[in-house]
Parts: sequence; structure tokens; C-alpha cells
Amino acid sequence: MLPFYYHLPEINSTILREKINFEIERKNLFENFQETYKKIDYKDFYKFKWATDLELFLYNNKFPGVDYILIFNHVRSQDIHIDGSNSIRLASLNLPLTNYTEKTFLFYSVPLKELTKGDAFYYYGNQHKILASFKGTDCWTLINSGIPHNMTVTDYSIPIRSLCVRFFGNPSIYHIIKKISYSVN
Ligand SMILES: [Fe+2]
Repeated sequence: MLPFYYHLPEINSTILREKINFEIERKNLFENFQETYKKIDYKDFYKFKWATDLELFLYNNKFPGVDYILIFNHVRSQDIHIDGSNSIRLASLNLPLTNYTEKTFLFYSVPLKELTKGDAFYYYGNQHKILASFKGTDCWTLINSGIPHNMTVTDYSIPIRSLCVRFFGNPSIYHIIKKISYSVN
């Protein structure tokens, strides 16, 4: 069975994170505090100074090519969901940008036939069973986003933001770990 998640503490991201946070504030990317996320397609990378730094950073660490990026501005805990809108997105590479200590990531078993399609595949019932969880950490983490999961937050008094990278060809967490293993061990 594939892992639920995989932390990558070996990959330092301090400077990159500072650049991204600086630009988010400077460009007022989330003008409205209640906005939950921004999607940045690969073709729009040129509009963001940090996006090309991010691309180079991922390339140097042997990640697959970037399809798109999501920057989440968490204003509430997420509903349980599987990533993807048209088809299931198997893996997401996440970097906490701010206030990561307030977050918990959980993975569930749910009745899959009860998923509701939206900007992801959501489960609103109460027949869920927790399979795994981890507390927010200050490092890049691969998420097995094809398994029902959510992120819960305890304190929204300061912005809680995270960056999610989705790769071309929809590789699984297994294929990504295999590809980068030369540079993380
Ligand atoms: Fe997700």
C-alpha cells in the first residue's frame, strides 16, 4: 500500500518560503480574507517572480514538471475530500507557508460511492474512520491526495497559508519518491 504522506525535511526551503510570503503580501494576493485558494497554471508562472524560482528549485531536486500550483488561505477546516475536479489527483507536494503548528492532516476511510463532485470529490457524511494523521510540520510533504483526507485548523487568528504543487502526468506519491530518491537520501 502507498504511504499516506512522506515528509521531506532534507529539502531546505527557507529562502523560497520567504520569497513567496513576501510576494503574497506585496501583491495582496488574498485581498479578501475569506478567499480560500488561488490556482496558478504553469502558463501563468511568468506573472509571479517566485514561480520560476520554485520551478528551478523543484527541478534541482528532481521533481517531475509542474502542472499547476494552488496557494491555500485557510479560513476554516476542510471537508473530507479526494483531490481533483475531473479525475482524481494522486499526489500533492505541500509546503506550509505560515502558522503550520496549528494544522493537523488526517486521512480517512469513507464510503466512496457517497463522494460529491465539486472542485474536489467531497464526503459530507459521518461514516468516516481515521486511518492516519500528522501534525503540521515545517517541511515539504508529499500527500497521497487520492485517499480521502482533510486539513483541520485550531486557530485562524493569523493567516494560515500553504502551497501545493501538482505535477504533469499525475504521478503517484510512489513514483515521485522514486524519482527524487537520488537527491533526498
Ligand atoms: Fe486535498
